[in-house]
Amino acid sequence: MRKPLIAGNWKMYKTVSESVETALALKPLVANANHCEVVIAPVFTSLKTVCDRLEGSNIKVAAQDCSTEVKEGAHTGEVAAFMLRDVGATYVIVGHSERRQFYAETDAHVNKKVHAALQSGLIAIMCVGETLDQREANLAQDVVSGQLIGGLVGLTPADLDRIIVAYEPVWAIGTGRTATPEQAQEMHAFIRRVFADRHGKSAASALRILYGGSVKPDNIAGLMAQGDIDGALVGGASLQAESFAQIVNYRV
Ligand code: PGA
Repeated sequence: MRKPLIAGNWKMYKTVSESVETALALKPLVANANHCEVVIAPVFTSLKTVCDRLEGSNIKVAAQDCSTEVKEGAHTGEVAAFMLRDVGATYVIVGHSERRQFYAETDAHVNKKVHAALQSGLIAIMCVGETLDQREANLAQDVVSGQLIGGLVGLTPADLDRIIVAYEPVWAIGTGRTATPEQAQEMHAFIRRVFADRHGKSAASALRILYGGSVKPDNIAGLMAQGDIDGALVGGASLQAESFAQIVNYRV
């Protein structure tokens, strides 16, 4: 059985004190959520404090990115995965579409980040997803399978259980226009088939695939009712403890 995972991506929002405030407000609201893993991803500057303040709770912490470089060195502005581990993060998001779109990240970068994350003991949440133009040109599956295969080059079978895929159609992110549960399910099932072709059936049936893109308290249950949707990566609606808690505490 795949345990669902609901992750909140706080993007470039919140100072340290605001992050702590939201994290502490969330803690009691999701304390009984045993049906899923709960993860929040604050900005780098808030990570250590949030990790410290959440110690002993059922909320785990993700970073939103990591360096392609595994070891420390002369890489101005970068943060290595082992440094994220060092402050208490257990997950890292890699290849988010905002990084691909606005910071020119390629599948090769994403692949290096995935390797850096795994080597440093983090679980990688690797994002894939097509733009509206690509969907309208009937290229959605080609784009998604290319990102999936390109991002996961060179992984060993042992690495695969520390990989989570997030399908986030770019046209649904921050737009209020979510994919329908059926559209999402179709792509999730496709991702699982592509993964099975590369890595075998049993790894594919264990793979958790999250949906992301305008997930809200009122659409989470419909998404989670789909067989291949194993959780959500939530942006806007994760910034408030109450709305994120409602998503975490969804009931199918
Ligand atoms: P959204 O963002 O929920 O605000 O659409 C999702 C994401 O970018 O991870």
